[in-house]
Amino acid sequence: MRRPPIKTLPLANGRSLLVEVWGDPPRDGGSHAVTGRVDHVALLSDLHVAGNSQIEISGINPSGHLEGVLQQWLLLPPMRPDYVLIAGDSAMIAGWEQDYRQLASLLALLDDIDLPWHSILGNHDCRENFGTLFGGRSPAQPDLPGQQVGVIDTPMATWLMLDTLDQVNEVPGQLGEDQGRWLGEVLAALPDPDKPILVMGHHNLQFDPDDEKWFGLKDSDVLVKLLDADPRVKAYVHGHSHRWQVGQRESGLWQVSLPALSFAFSEEQPIGWVQARIGGHGMDLQLHPLRDNGAAGIVNPDPATTATPPALSLRWR
Ligand SMILES: [Fe+2]
Ligand SMILES: [Fe+2]
Repeated sequence: MRRPPIKTLPLANGRSLLVEVWGDPPRDGGSHAVTGRVDHVALLSDLHVAGNSQIEISGINPSGHLEGVLQQWLLLPPMRPDYVLIAGDSAMIAGWEQDYRQLASLLALLDDIDLPWHSILGNHDCRENFGTLFGGRSPAQPDLPGQQVGVIDTPMATWLMLDTLDQVNEVPGQLGEDQGRWLGEVLAALPDPDKPILVMGHHNLQFDPDDEKWFGLKDSDVLVKLLDADPRVKAYVHGHSHRWQVGQRESGLWQVSLPALSFAFSEEQPIGWVQARIGGHGMDLQLHPLRDNGAAGIVNPDPATTATPPALSLRWR
């Protein structure tokens, strides 16, 4: 696969921000917001792939789920997104190297069809092992060495991909002081006053520990203060909860909780992926639920028995 071009922006602290450029710039040099272009982005989360491709959790085979979706994109080009973003917990439990080897063998299908993808880290990932397999895919940010953060400029939005992994296989996550400072500097450095910014992190926002136990992002207050304050930031997209849910903060910032592609924590919750269609004024989200276990359980194969959930339309603040 060809590597996307990288552009450099100066940060206020004198260091540089490295921005991956995905997709073609507008032909007329103007804004895509007025050209009617739509980005089709596949949002996946909580793949929980194991090194052994046959492993099942409660009768569900995570590798089979991912392979089924990838095969569908391979075989049905109209279903193919422009980009794929993965919201963490790609590995089964603790980010073992063999998990990432299996993941790499599956995601090679995306490289075969020249589909750009980026994955952030969750609490069941391991920074070092992920870096061994995938570290070279995205440029390391000079200002935040060692963390798997990314800045991706697509035609319709700039994605800021955060690294909220705190302790491997411990549930809560953390932005951390350094990354919080970096995020503030990145927002100040992004030059386009009109281009929507979308932020992806693994952990859900949580402001009080539930029964004195943290499940989500421990420093959510730091993160939302930054995101609420910049009207260009339109949404925070996360995984971790294995729950398909969309909400909006008083500031107008959308919160999108992605379903897991592997397994849900409760029977009412779907398993699947979400197709985002990002236009100039907002984003439509379409859930593609998996019907059953394995590669054969493709998205809504029989409309008579599996209703397609309606798309959600999120208008930008
Ligand atoms: Fe997970
Ligand atoms: Fe998680």
